[in-house]
Amino acid sequence: MQKPQGTFYITTPIYYVNDTPHIGHAYTSILADVLTRFHKLAGDETFFLTGTDEHGQKVQQAADKRGVTPKEHCDAYSVRFREAWTQLNVGFDKFIRTTDPEHIRYVQDMLTIMWDKGLIYEKEYEGWYSVGEERFFTEKELVDGKDPVSGRPVEKIREKNYFFKMSSYQDWLIQYIEDHPDFILPEFRRNEVMGFLRQPLNDLCISRPKSRLAWGITLPFDADYVAYVWVDALFNYRSAVAGQEFPGGKSVWPADFHLLGKDILTTHAVYWPTLLKAVDAPMPRHLLAHGWWLFDNARMSKTTGNVVNPLAMKDIYGVDAFRYFLIREMVLGQDASFSEAALVQRLNSDLANDVGNGLSRILKLAATGLGSRLTPITAQGPGGPNIFAATGDAPLIGDDEIHLHRTAEATVSSALEKVRQLKLSFAVEDVLQLIRAVNRYLEIKAPWKLAKEGEAGKARLNAVLYHAAEALRIGFTLLHPVMPAKMEEALAALGIGSARDSSLNWGAWAAEGPLSSGISLFPRVETAAKTGDKTGGDGTVSPSGQSPGNKGVTSAPKADPFSLVHLKVAQVESVADHPNADALYVLELRIGEETRTVCAGLKKHLAKDELQGRKVVMVYNLKPANLRGVESRGMILAAQDAAGKLWPADPGDAQSGADVTAEGIAPQPKMDLTLKEFEKAPLRVKSGTVWYREHQLRTSQGVVLAKAEDAAEVR
Ligand code: MSP
Repeated sequence: MQKPQGTFYITTPIYYVNDTPHIGHAYTSILADVLTRFHKLAGDETFFLTGTDEHGQKVQQAADKRGVTPKEHCDAYSVRFREAWTQLNVGFDKFIRTTDPEHIRYVQDMLTIMWDKGLIYEKEYEGWYSVGEERFFTEKELVDGKDPVSGRPVEKIREKNYFFKMSSYQDWLIQYIEDHPDFILPEFRRNEVMGFLRQPLNDLCISRPKSRLAWGITLPFDADYVAYVWVDALFNYRSAVAGQEFPGGKSVWPADFHLLGKDILTTHAVYWPTLLKAVDAPMPRHLLAHGWWLFDNARMSKTTGNVVNPLAMKDIYGVDAFRYFLIREMVLGQDASFSEAALVQRLNSDLANDVGNGLSRILKLAATGLGSRLTPITAQGPGGPNIFAATGDAPLIGDDEIHLHRTAEATVSSALEKVRQLKLSFAVEDVLQLIRAVNRYLEIKAPWKLAKEGEAGKARLNAVLYHAAEALRIGFTLLHPVMPAKMEEALAALGIGSARDSSLNWGAWAAEGPLSSGISLFPRVETAAKTGDKTGGDGTVSPSGQSPGNKGVTSAPKADPFSLVHLKVAQVESVADHPNADALYVLELRIGEETRTVCAGLKKHLAKDELQGRKVVMVYNLKPANLRGVESRGMILAAQDAAGKLWPADPGDAQSGADVTAEGIAPQPKMDLTLKEFEKAPLRVKSGTVWYREHQLRTSQGVVLAKAEDAAEVR
């Protein structure tokens, strides 16, 4: 949302064709796609460029290894990227290949301009050359006589080469970055670049003699040389859109965002701006460097064989669940860890429980109670106010409805603002909060009862379902950029032809078509396959042999029962009476940035205001349970004092969201822990604190307190 109702040009790095697409590549492409779709939602004209980087030593070597010509190799590998993006629903506008004749000509034109301006000179050069990194290092830069980046051996080479006077732009570049604080994002990456620029900047060797490397773009001023692959590659961002305009006549260049991984920051933040300056071109607006996807806390690489194949993940879990996981899990700028278990957890909790259930409840209730037809409820309908039920008793739009309506509107602005700030994981969480609020609203309103109350009941049922459906529609429209296929399906189930017709305004829904009578958007997945064990011979992960739904994946030694339990600190945000059970409260808990509904049998023991705002300890991984019509996701730990009063265990100063562990027991939480499994790890009070056998429970801030006598049970 950089420039509302404006234009938006975004690029991914172009991918080397010496590799097959892996999750790191998929992430950048999906991120670019999601940002593009959000800009479309805001009404911007967009252009999304991706492609493949096909010249240079690595590609030549990969071709040699396969016994084919470099061009044959590129043709075969480039298409893998293009097809992977199509399968992952990545809607690029152009796929550039650096072997495209237009690109080759463009790079030669730029080099001619630089040559004519006297910005390129030739020099006899002797240095340490690293084949892996395709560049020279100075004696000082070597570490133990080896390439400081890859640690591989270097060769001493003496040859004539062409150099770009990059050093002459050093002061200009420092000033430019200072004047444009959001040029390099996130901020700590800008500081890294500024640190790098405190050292004197060298000139850039932009040629390779054909005698050593023939696979490249011939220099226009010396046919015995090809261009250095990075100079060739960086110009793709401009060659792809040379002379191109958006509808309305605005030039597509400069790019709004170049997305890149942190490993290629220097080339983008130092080489690229100076090359652009040399040819008098405007600068791109933002460089956005994201972190790495790690697997077992190590960078994925073909050599270690821990590469996750995005297409296998798509085949097992579906393209949208995979996209959702990547966007939800990586905080932009930081590294994130990939595991199938975490993906399954997200799929089951956010997508199956929250998103999918919300929709299917509304559809089922509308099908049975209203023949799958909803009538919009507006405060000022065409025939005058229709906010009163046919019987004229209580209003159809009361506090709960107004609250839901306001929550939906607040979510639209907060989520879009977070997208603008590139905090996509937080934007997505905001929308999930809205969807959870819809589920809570349905629980509180208990619409299943209304269907049995005649005509007046029907009018009320319609009003409740309309409000829930309208809030969900807005949530789905906001999630559409992340999960285009599933959200299209979800909107269609609400009678909306296409996401394009769904605005973010409350009340925009005209409810033309009938609702679908039922849909299973995200079926729950029972188990995750162990990704690390599934690597094929080519180092990629093959589709898991375990079909989702099979039980018993791991064969780990018998773990201590407590290690399976995941306890967390939560804060009580609100307390309501359970609609159908006298002893229960329905609590809304905040756990870090997440909220959950949990039922607790505390009504006889504590008043609402004694609970409100209190920090508690919850069983976080307990299997969700339906308690008399309210889905409860977790359980609060409490112990009974001598007078029989139940008190929640008290985590002291720990922050909401913090983990609670037992000293000396390594946690290995099990997803969907059953109550029986939880009971195998009995917790008891000792000296006013909570213990599991001889292990005391603690947070990073201290112990967990309990207002009960020694040996009292905590559960
Ligand atoms: N060809 C160059 C880019 C030239 S752009 C003018 C290149 N290609 S690459 O295929 O090696 O990497 C492409 C992108 O994938 C980089 O942004 C890199 O950071 C990203 N990733 C590669 N492995 C990754 C992870 N494990 N996690 C996240 N992204 C990573 O560099």
